[in-house]
Amino acid sequence: MIITALDFNNANDALALASRIDPQASRVKVGKELFTVAGPALVEQLQSKGFDVFLDLKFHDIPNTVAGALKAAASLGVWMVNVHASGGPAMLAAARSAIAPFTESAGTRVIGVTVLTSMDEAQLKAIGVAVTPEQQVLHLASLVKEAGLDGIVCSPKEVGLIRKNIDGPFLTVTPGVRPTATKVGSAGGKADDQRRVMTPADAIAAGSDFLVIGRPITQAADPQQALDSIVNEVQAAIKS
Ligand code: C5P
Repeated sequence: MIITALDFNNANDALALASRIDPQASRVKVGKELFTVAGPALVEQLQSKGFDVFLDLKFHDIPNTVAGALKAAASLGVWMVNVHASGGPAMLAAARSAIAPFTESAGTRVIGVTVLTSMDEAQLKAIGVAVTPEQQVLHLASLVKEAGLDGIVCSPKEVGLIRKNIDGPFLTVTPGVRPTATKVGSAGGKADDQRRVMTPADAIAAGSDFLVIGRPITQAADPQQALDSIVNEVQAAIKS
């Protein structure tokens, strides 16, 4: 349910953090910076420590190229990969076909990135998309669903909209989550550069399946303790 974002610029720091957290309590996300510097070898080392890896490379290219890249990624044995939904229906269909054999043999998931949270209405307009971010998220999420992908990455603020309009099963993976202890405005609160944060409990209550959390875990004095308190918050939310 928790995915720890390993946003490091070298393999040693990523592995040091990974050895301080329990793979039963969290999956890990390897993004563009870490993968570019540390590559498949790091993914294999994380897997040998028992972690399920979400390879967050957000592919966006012509269908044939995306299919090839996804096959290469899935061959590493990762649990989840992703593409930009704005690559369009043909690219999404190619992504689904490329991953299908891996889903069958190893349960590999492929999800679509909807609208980056760095994009607001003005940014969308600048690239010729004259709708609100919420409308665009829903539109792209529908394309992802129609193409048969497993779900989307979106802001926790948009999960409610997705749950209301798109039938399950459809995974929602949400960054922009800050534990209650670090909620903006709370004592010692820290949102880092995230602007629209939600607590783990609120994100789960809204219908999030997986919470992507980076710095509140990776920069904590005791990362496992930080993770435990987030897991407790999530479990309490599920019970209530
Ligand atoms: O440290 P923090 O919890 O803010 O890390 C969030 C992670 O989720 C980072 O890896 C960031 O790149 C990623 N992410 C995000 N917002 C998006 C998409 C991805 O914060 N819209």
